[in-house]
Amino acid sequence: MKYFIGTDHAGFEVKPFVIEYLQKKGIEVEDLGTYSSESVDYPDFASKVCAAVLKDERSKGILICGTGLGMSMAANRHEGIRAALCHDAYTASVARGHNDANILCFGERIVGKGVAESILDAWIAGCFDGGRH
Ligand code: RB5
Repeated sequence: MKYFIGTDHAGFEVKPFVIEYLQKKGIEVEDLGTYSSESVDYPDFASKVCAAVLKDERSKGILICGTGLGMSMAANRHEGIRAALCHDAYTASVARGHNDANILCFGERIVGKGVAESILDAWIAGCFDGGRH
């Protein structure tokens, strides 16, 4: 299982933390930018991650901006992408189990590192329940 990650400048600071957290769990992560704190347009990075996830159907994506809103809106414009904006572990778990979300979005300005860890744990552990969903 490979993860593609993308952020804008407002998600740039937490990105190394997320990458390291996933790698420690044995997850392969590819960083698709942005690579500096210079101001950028978040849809460009949403598009990069969406294209990568659509190319490799076993992969997942993570998109982070200031609030997670712009990234989730931009990502959900791509057919085949189910991006879920999750600011708590329960939503992250249900996004996988009920919605079969393939991209996790959150806001660096909304969640601290501890909450980010719990969101990532719930997302990673979650599996699509199928059936009525
Ligand atoms: C950038 O300042 C901020 O607007 C962006 O990261 C995001 O929160 C948009 O939804």
